[in-house]
Amino acid sequence: MTDTRHSLPRVTKAVVPAAGLGTRFLPATKATPKEMLPIVDKPAIQYVVEEAVDAGLNDVLMVTGRSKRSIEDHFDRAYELEEALRAKDDTERLRSVRESSELAQVHYVRQGEPRGLGHAVLCADAHVAGEPFAVLLGDDLIGASEGLLKRMIDVQAERGGSVVALMEVEPEQVSLYGCAAIESTDDPDVVRVTDLVEKPPQESAPSRWAIIGRYVCAPEVFGVLRDTPPGRGGEIQLTDALRELAGRRPDQGGPVHGVLFRGQRYDTGNRLDYLRTVVEFACARPDLAAEFVPWLREFAAAQDPGDLPG
Ligand code: G1P
Repeated sequence: MTDTRHSLPRVTKAVVPAAGLGTRFLPATKATPKEMLPIVDKPAIQYVVEEAVDAGLNDVLMVTGRSKRSIEDHFDRAYELEEALRAKDDTERLRSVRESSELAQVHYVRQGEPRGLGHAVLCADAHVAGEPFAVLLGDDLIGASEGLLKRMIDVQAERGGSVVALMEVEPEQVSLYGCAAIESTDDPDVVRVTDLVEKPPQESAPSRWAIIGRYVCAPEVFGVLRDTPPGRGGEIQLTDALRELAGRRPDQGGPVHGVLFRGQRYDTGNRLDYLRTVVEFACARPDLAAEFVPWLREFAAAQDPGDLPG
């Protein structure tokens, strides 16, 4: 699709890498993809697809791997279940079951071997077919009301190249993220990315601005990824490919901009943050909060630090 104002192709497709082994959640993830772990009563990956759809992207490509079939089932119709709910006149649950199958056009490609995020994105090449596209990582949940992805798509349409979402983190946290060296632009929320390093040690990090899991990539990223050698952790890193694009001219797939995000982001990638996310989401749910919040307060007040296990 071409935007008549700028004649740059507009982003229409989202890529969601979902091939990770989920080792941090074993044994729960032995037979269940980590993307299907519930945040209250909805699998984490559904929030991600909803965010893409809210930003106007209803073509979603999941990059999956072995034992991820339940993701496909989740975004498909479930006739027997729907029939059973209809027979019971349980319209509310019927609506919730159908919702995920009607959200978006979800497509699947398999990564084959786990060679890193950059390699997962490379698997989307044929589907994306030469247009800029969004990448959403399932470990980061960002409220659709924040409008982050929409803003990134707009910035990409105005400035071309690629766009990453950046969030300021504590110095001791930078080594967990891709980290950006930045220069300001005429827009206070948009920066020019001049360098990127995947998970740098705190002492040599170029800044405290970390890439959170939202990207809009120029299609030139595929060519770069093909030539990107394994980096941090022996994996092909998307950060390394974007670093190369950051130094390029616009006619060669550059530059890279960052949208500075100061809103609410939930990390579900490790057990502690996952628990915090579930509790926060439950406290924000109108159907649960009235009972859950007073219980939580009482429960927390009754915890004596001396009684903690371990
Ligand atoms: C990935 C990226 C990293 C980014 C992070 C955001 O790392 O490689 O650059 O900052 O996601 O969550 P992972 O957390 O998958 O190791």
